[in-house]
Amino acid sequence: MFSLTDDDLKRKILGCGDGPASFNAEMYALGHRVISFDPVYAFSRAEIEQRVHEMYHKIVEQVGKSREDYVWTRFRDEYDLADHRLTCMRRFFEDYDAGLAEGRYQLESLPTLSFGDGQFDIALSSHLLFLYSEQLSLEFHLESILEMCRVAHDVRIFPLLDLKCRTSAYLEPVRTRLMELGYSADVTPVDYEFQKGGNTMLWIRK
Ligand SMILES: C[S@@+](CC[C@H](N)C(=O)[O-])C[C@H]1O[C@@H](n2cnc3c(N)ncnc32)[C@H](O)[C@@H]1O
Repeated sequence: MFSLTDDDLKRKILGCGDGPASFNAEMYALGHRVISFDPVYAFSRAEIEQRVHEMYHKIVEQVGKSREDYVWTRFRDEYDLADHRLTCMRRFFEDYDAGLAEGRYQLESLPTLSFGDGQFDIALSSHLLFLYSEQLSLEFHLESILEMCRVAHDVRIFPLLDLKCRTSAYLEPVRTRLMELGYSADVTPVDYEFQKGGNTMLWIRK
C-alpha cells in the first residue's frame, strides 16, 4: 500500500488510525518499532474484539453485494477476505496489551496530535483519509494531513478512493493546498489493489 522499502522500515514510523491492524505487531516481530494511534485504543482488548466480530458479518455482506468493485487476485471471495482480516486482527490482539504498556499503541485522534514537530520520519494512513470522504469533511482532511506533515517529513496516504470506489473529491483540493504551502504531493502507483482502481497513494514530502 505504501511502497515501503527495507530502509523505510528502519525509520521512525507513525501509523495513523491503525485500529486493529497487524502492521505494528508484524514490524515489532521483525525488530522495528512503530507507534500506532487510534481512538479505538481507548477500549480494552475484549471490547475491540467484540466490535471486530460484529464487523465480520458486515464486511462479508457489503463486499458480497458489490463484488464487481474489487480485484479478486489476492482473495478468493468475501469470506476469504474476511478470514484474512480476522487473521491480521488476531495478530493485533495478541500484541495489544504488551504494545499498550510499551507505548506502541497510543490513544490519539486526528486532526490534533500530541507528538512533537518532526518526531517521526514517516506517517502512514490507510483506509481512513479519503476513503471516508462522505463522512469526514475537506477541512478535517486538510487539518489532519497538515498535522501529519508537522510530525513527520514523509506522509503517505492510501487509498485515494472513497467507499464507492470513486477518486475522492478531496484529492485535488488537498493537493492544491499542499503545493501552495510548498510540499510535493504526488499520486504514486503502488503494488496493492483491492478496490478497483485503488492502486495509488498520496506521497507528501517537504
Ligand atoms: C477502516 S479502519 C482502518 C484501520 C487500518 N488503518 C487498516 O487499514 O486496516 C479506520 C480506522 O480509523 C480510526 N479512526 C476514526 N477516526 C479517527 C481519527 N479522528 N483519528 C485517527 N483514527 C481514526 C478508526 O477507529 C479505525 O480504526
